[in-house]
Amino acid sequence: MPKGSVSLSVIRRLPRYHRFLRDLLAAGTVRISSGDLSAKMGLTASQIRQDLNCFGGFGQQGYGYNVKDLYEEIGRILGLDQTHRAILLGAGNLGRAIALHMDFALRGITLLGIFDSDPSLVGTQVGGMPVRDCAGLADFCAAHRPDIAILCIPKESANRTAAMLVRHGVRGFWNFSHYDLALDYEGIAVENVHLGDSLSTLCFRLKEAGRESESLVP
Ligand code: NAI
Repeated sequence: MPKGSVSLSVIRRLPRYHRFLRDLLAAGTVRISSGDLSAKMGLTASQIRQDLNCFGGFGQQGYGYNVKDLYEEIGRILGLDQTHRAILLGAGNLGRAIALHMDFALRGITLLGIFDSDPSLVGTQVGGMPVRDCAGLADFCAAHRPDIAILCIPKESANRTAAMLVRHGVRGFWNFSHYDLALDYEGIAVENVHLGDSLSTLCFRLKEAGRESESLVP
């Protein structure tokens, strides 16, 4: 259970813990010390203890963590034990890649439908699902009540499309369009994803690494 309000930076680390623990579970590991977990994850043991203490702490002195219990508890904290219904808008390069390669079921999400505004794409298949015409979006939402929309559409239409989807009951946006959605609606969650930001961070780190290696040259 979260102790008071937990910072977003801690929350953002939880999916990574969850992923590592899933791999450990798959490898048959029953328990792990915070030292071993920290070595695997490239974090300090005290960082891990601090993070998990935000939720009451899970380890036992001298035992470490039970991998399955911690995996399930972090999943519950993240809400992965709840079910969600998603639609994906934009069946272009990015939308198709996400529809084909993202493991939605692992996160309790069912992808209900894929939509595009381009008539030449409507009726084509992506991973066994038909691409639907955006003209039918409102009726589809009324019938199937999706609560998540994945936006793989150009930034020009992102805000308008999101506003329309909110009116149809969508409460969560996984937004890949290069438009930072800032929706002024109560109870709406937005995750803006920019792969380019991550690439820029890499450039910075490369620059820093270059400086450090220069300073090592005698
Ligand atoms: P794309 O041009 O291959 O596909 C975009 C699709 O969206 C097209 O099929 C188009 O017909 C459809 N579309 C346009 N308006 C729509 C609407 N209102 N409703 C439904 N469908 C609509 O482009 P791609 O490569 O798939 O990229 C999609 C978007 O994601 C672009 O805006 C691109 O800039 C952005 N992008 C974002 C990244 C990120 O890290 N956030 C990475 C790569 C692309």
